[in-house]
Amino acid sequence: KILILDFGSQLTQLIARRVRELGVYCELHPWDSSDDLIREFAPRGVILSGSPESVAEAGSPRVPAAVWELGVPVLGICYGMQVMAHHFGGAVEPHDQKEFGYAEIRARGHSKLLRDIEDRVNDEGHGLLDVWMSHGDRVVRLPDGFKCIASTPDLPLAGMADEARGYYGLQFHAEVTHTRQGARIYSRFVHEICGCGDAWKPDSIIDDAIARVREQVGDGHVLLGLSGGVDSSVVAALLHKAIGPQLTCVFVDHGLLRHHEGDQVMKIFADHLGVKVIRVNAEQRFLSALQGVSDPEAKRKVIGKLFVDVFDEESAKIDNVQFLAQGTIYPDVIESAGSKTGKAHVIKSHHNVGGLPAHMKLKLVEPLRELFKDEVRRIGVELGLPREMVYRHPFPGPGLGVRILGEVTKQAADTLRLADHIFIEELRKSGWYDKTSQAFAVFLPVKSVGVTGDGRRYEPVIALRAVETIDFMTAHWAHLPYELLDVCSRRIVNEIAGVSRVVYDVSGKPPATIEWE
Ligand code: XMP
Repeated sequence: KILILDFGSQLTQLIARRVRELGVYCELHPWDSSDDLIREFAPRGVILSGSPESVAEAGSPRVPAAVWELGVPVLGICYGMQVMAHHFGGAVEPHDQKEFGYAEIRARGHSKLLRDIEDRVNDEGHGLLDVWMSHGDRVVRLPDGFKCIASTPDLPLAGMADEARGYYGLQFHAEVTHTRQGARIYSRFVHEICGCGDAWKPDSIIDDAIARVREQVGDGHVLLGLSGGVDSSVVAALLHKAIGPQLTCVFVDHGLLRHHEGDQVMKIFADHLGVKVIRVNAEQRFLSALQGVSDPEAKRKVIGKLFVDVFDEESAKIDNVQFLAQGTIYPDVIESAGSKTGKAHVIKSHHNVGGLPAHMKLKLVEPLRELFKDEVRRIGVELGLPREMVYRHPFPGPGLGVRILGEVTKQAADTLRLADHIFIEELRKSGWYDKTSQAFAVFLPVKSVGVTGDGRRYEPVIALRAVETIDFMTAHWAHLPYELLDVCSRRIVNEIAGVSRVVYDVSGKPPATIEWE
């Protein structure tokens, strides 16, 4: 296994995902982790991430001493290279121009790390690589024992190595796809230089998780809040395989789900997989509680609280439960751990499942705690869940409650469900569903005039939204073809009574959020 020390770069998680994709288990820990943690982890190699900080600044992050005592290979990326150079007595300086974007590097000195990895060869037989750079500071003098392994015309020291000790530094980011040979470079480091195998694959991840769940729960009973989302669905399928009848799922249907979603959840889990699922049809309770509530945050609170109440009521009816399963995934764990200095991470709060019924005193089972979303999806498919479900766009917990602007009514929810269904169906048919990150319809409670064959219509408006994004923090609106929008618009006004007009949202985030509320 590999240890990745996070110095605060936005790209650190990407390094971890690259390493995992190569079949090697790795964990990401803050740069100021204790020496004990590092020794106990006993990695076969360490990767030092990039950082927005500058080595020259007082108080900037340093590498814990234990890393150098392990006697294992170390790869520093960007700041990781600079902090390594600084530690061993090299020199790092700020440069007047920040380098950002594409660069062509020349591999030099036949290092173990880059040997024979190239996009092209120049006239003199040197390998050339297309890479992606983003840095201000640079190494200007190598520490003793290090040689230069890569350079560009502007940056003579773009890579360094002390091969006797297995210490490597790269100024460019091999974890982004713009660095075309990135996967090979990481493979060279983790497989060949560190000697890791490639056993971290969906089937072995599943076997490993099953063994651990069995060991943790013994013959105890586990309760799971199933939402139909990717994470809780994969937990359900995994636990079912691990402990079968010892699992009971509670599925709270708040009536604000997508078209036929509740029935689909039951069909897949109860009918197809044979999981014990208790469906609670609570539409009426949610609609009553939402009556007269139109502020978005107030709606979220009402839905969130009632969800917990309903879940707790139902679970209290089940006897003899000792464990509560949750779909916590690795990014949630990393985000809430963060660095002690607090600089490296934006902390987000996650509320996946309702609170624990206090009197039940349940212990947590979190079988996805070490997995990234793409790994969760891959094991979901391996566990027999339908691909369309596992690769579905994210859907907010409050569901259509935040896509019906203002007060939520049954009629609005029914109209919106149909419009959304038509939009998604057309996106799938045209191949655009997988090209967008999130797409949905929004119900606007403003009436506009329309005309149909037999007269005048004065009805609400449906807005369509489709975005492309990597991290959902920023997003571009998707440039859907006019023909596709045309089909959606025609179908929505023709097939749904009570919609006079369809509009397409062309706002980016920022300034507009992805959801309308
Ligand atoms: P925004 O609208 O903030 O959305 O740009 C970013 C992502 O978060 C989702 N979202 C929510 N998810 N409960 C959730 O579980 C919520 O209240 C909520 N609000 C927004 C949104 O769908 C998008 O993926």
